[in-house]
Amino acid sequence: MRIFSGIQPSGDLHIGNYLGAIKQWIDLQHKNECIFCIVDLHAITAPYDKENLSKHILEQTGSYIAAGLNPEKVIIFVQSSVKEHAELYWLLNTVTPLGELYRMTQFKEKVKKYKKNENAGLLNYPILQAADILLYDTQAVPVGEDQKQHIELARDIARIFNRKFGETFVLPKVKLPSHGARIMSLTEPTKKMSKSDGEESYISLFDSPEKIKKKIKSATTDTGKEIKYDIKKKPGISNLLTIYSLFSEKPIEELEKEMKEKSYKAFKEELTSLLTEKLESFRRKKEEFSSRKVYIEEILKQGEKKARTLAEEKMAEVKRKMGLQ
Ligand code: AMP
Ligand code: TRP
Repeated sequence: MRIFSGIQPSGDLHIGNYLGAIKQWIDLQHKNECIFCIVDLHAITAPYDKENLSKHILEQTGSYIAAGLNPEKVIIFVQSSVKEHAELYWLLNTVTPLGELYRMTQFKEKVKKYKKNENAGLLNYPILQAADILLYDTQAVPVGEDQKQHIELARDIARIFNRKFGETFVLPKVKLPSHGARIMSLTEPTKKMSKSDGEESYISLFDSPEKIKKKIKSATTDTGKEIKYDIKKKPGISNLLTIYSLFSEKPIEELEKEMKEKSYKAFKEELTSLLTEKLESFRRKKEEFSSRKVYIEEILKQGEKKARTLAEEKMAEVKRKMGLQ
């Protein structure tokens, strides 16, 4: 299967990104043709630091590899280095119903969040995402729950285009993890974990043991004492149980039994040890790659070349179908 997914280079990867998206990528890379993109053109729709963008891109590439992607097996490249993404984006603009864009949850949230920066890119964001996906005849898109709506829109756009101009695009399917598609914030467990919220609300894949300890210790829990999964009444404890379960690969019911006699404090200490142990190798590898800039640049260069070959071919087909030069 052809797989495509992307993450914005807008800071550290957190355990939500890992459990929702990257863990799936790592599993899928063995048996599929995978393309993973660093979507810098999406990142610039929000306020960003121009001086540090290319540094973040290199860091994110290092993070992908540190987390377990094999650059020999998968294509990793930067979105803005293949101009066909922006080109297809424009063409898809002309077939995308405006009403669909206004309906997108992420758009509504971002307009509220970036009141002083209400640029058109926030509205058109999912069209660029559709271009990313459709350009490579993608069959499945592994992402977290929050992206489901965008992938469904990409599918609709493909359908509208095919109807209008003839069979051109593969209809992509969203691929969510069976658990962990929505990891919640540590400080506000009714909101999803997000890198644009405060640092204490998420655990980075590369946090030091001290930071992990501090963040888990101050994570919001619920009234009562029982360690029990109940998303409505105990969102904080339920989220911590989900994280524990995914990193330990033990089902939640088993953990509830194991933790029956334990206090919140003891549970948090166990979770801290588990995360420290599991994230240790990520941190070590990330440090190793941070000093190998030339190697990382070479991976991106190779990725760009392969992605461009595929993208150019598809673009020529799309333009032909639309009667363009
Ligand atoms: P972003 O950090 O918004 O660029 O998201 C990158 C990928 O991580 C997307 O596939 C998201 O769906 C996924 N993701 C982001 N936050 C979470 C979360 N809190 N839980 C699960 N998946 C997430
Ligand atoms: N919008 C996605 C996010 O914020 C990132 C993204 C851009 C993406 N293009 C993509 C994800 C294509 C999957 C496929 O997480």
